[in-house]
Amino acid sequence: MKNIHSIDDYNKRIKRVLINEDQIKEAIAKAGKDIDRMYDGRPILLVSILKGAFVFLADICRAVSVPCEVAFMCAKSYYDGTVSSGNVKITMDLNQDITHYHVVIVEDIVDTGRTLKDVVELLRARNPLSLKVVTLLDKPSRRLVEFKPDVSLFTIPDHFVIGYGLDCGEYFRNLPYIAEYDECSDN
Ligand code: IMP
Ligand code: MG
Repeated sequence: MKNIHSIDDYNKRIKRVLINEDQIKEAIAKAGKDIDRMYDGRPILLVSILKGAFVFLADICRAVSVPCEVAFMCAKSYYDGTVSSGNVKITMDLNQDITHYHVVIVEDIVDTGRTLKDVVELLRARNPLSLKVVTLLDKPSRRLVEFKPDVSLFTIPDHFVIGYGLDCGEYFRNLPYIAEYDECSDN
């Protein structure tokens, strides 16, 4: 991605809104109820994968009514612009023992599936009471490893998307909606 030098450069890259704020709100309220039903009053640990899932975590944690703790992990898979690097690095780990927790991983998007496959394997090896994955977005057509989230709020086609926590070159995370990124503006 070329550097963004002006507000005009920035705005040009927001191609079109794919999912608006109301649609996100509605889907999160429903997912919160689904989670409440799944855990039926049992306490959970919501684990957000940074940075992309920080906005989603902030909203989903307020949509659940079961007792809940939050925790953060940092897993990196995209290193530059829109190109996947293929290897996943845990750059910040949980600092608690998860053997007494029902763990719910909160992710922004499942793309190739590599990040979550690795994170799930890692956390499963630590023997939590249970482990599930909730993702805001799923791009199943891009899968390179087999992976199916337990809850997915939106299935989207193969577009690189930005906003609501998702970035391109660290920008756009603060957009309140999910938009398609205009890759043509980089040429
Ligand atoms: P995966 O390991 O290929 O499934 O990639 C997952 C990570 O890549 C996500 O957690 C995102 O941080 C990032 N990613 C994948 N697709 C997109 C996208 O369309 N926009 C922004 N980030 C993305
Ligand atoms: Mg992510």
